[in-house]
Amino acid sequence: MIAARNGRAGGARLAALGAYVPERVVTNADLERQVDTTDEWIVTRTGIRERRYASADQATSDLAVLAAGDVLRNSRMDPADVDVVIVPTCTPDHLFPSVAAMTAHRVGAVNAAAFDLQAACSGFIYGLAQATALVESGIARNVLVVGAEVFSKIVDMEDRSTCILFGDAAAGALVTAGEPECPGGFLGFELGADGSQAMDLCIPVGGTRRPASQPFAREEAFVQMNGREVYKFATRVMEESVVRLLDRLEVGIGDVDLLVAHQANLRIIDHAVKRLGIDGSRVFNNLERYGNTSAASIPLALTEARDAGVLNPGALVLLVGFGAGLTWASCLVRYEPE
Ligand code: ACO
Repeated sequence: MIAARNGRAGGARLAALGAYVPERVVTNADLERQVDTTDEWIVTRTGIRERRYASADQATSDLAVLAAGDVLRNSRMDPADVDVVIVPTCTPDHLFPSVAAMTAHRVGAVNAAAFDLQAACSGFIYGLAQATALVESGIARNVLVVGAEVFSKIVDMEDRSTCILFGDAAAGALVTAGEPECPGGFLGFELGADGSQAMDLCIPVGGTRRPASQPFAREEAFVQMNGREVYKFATRVMEESVVRLLDRLEVGIGDVDLLVAHQANLRIIDHAVKRLGIDGSRVFNNLERYGNTSAASIPLALTEARDAGVLNPGALVLLVGFGAGLTWASCLVRYEPE
């Protein structure tokens, strides 16, 4: 577990946000025609009504490039001034090269180092922690973190227990070195992992444990999930991680202006909101329209909260997520855009 207290004046700050979602909308009614499910079951158990799917010729880097372009436009930053591009993703175009290197090239971040980060749905907050560390250590001044996922191509469209959950999107943020008088920035992180539950959420085949060159059953090439175990894990760690973070920073939940949680399941979020005692009016959700977009979900929700006028300059924002690994992450940031 990593916990840090930063947020000193002139530290790393969240300078800009941006997002891209594919055009194709897939509703619960569309899925009713594909698997044995109902709109009522999906809405009641998850809160999801529709999600976006990438087109046949769109891979994860294609979404990442469009989201990165949006972040750069919003920050008015010359791509050549970006020092590092980090792409949190668990659905890369290929096992290697990284999505980040291709994204950096295509957005003109010609001076940037680039790497992918694999912490599944916790990946965006892990990426922000990396970016903060790079900036506060003086290694970089401008770091682009873009969560990008195309889950529609790795879920089994014959498996009703998983295919209804996920959608495709990319979204991210620019983390920059703040001016000495800048009060905003990242106040702290709480990150963790429990590999004892690794196989509760995995793709069994295609890596070096079970190479695709050896025989396998069709479904083993897709996401396999022990939904109940992941649900139990998520409800426990979201609360625990936030409590540890806020205690360490000596911040009360009443001081938080906005909570943005990983958009996996409304029941999981509602459980955390209730346990933490944060007012529902200070929670922003958009999973109803996008489903679980994994590493893209938190920055996509942040971007939409900004556009909806819910995320305003000066706001104290709490982010929390969980995902495959199994992993979790939380973060407290004072939003001070450029
Ligand atoms: N439509 C209709 N029935 C369904 C569907 C469906 N789409 N899916 C499952 N069912 C059935 C099951 O077969 C089961 O039937 P049975 O009782 O006859 O066996 C019944 O519904 C109940 O199944 P449960 O798994 O107990 O349903 P639950 O209420 O737990 O909801 C869910 C399942 C939504 C998957 C929940 O467990 C969950 O959200 N878990 C967390 C998953 C998650 O967030 N994963 C993402 C992690 S992020 C990342 O890193 C990628």
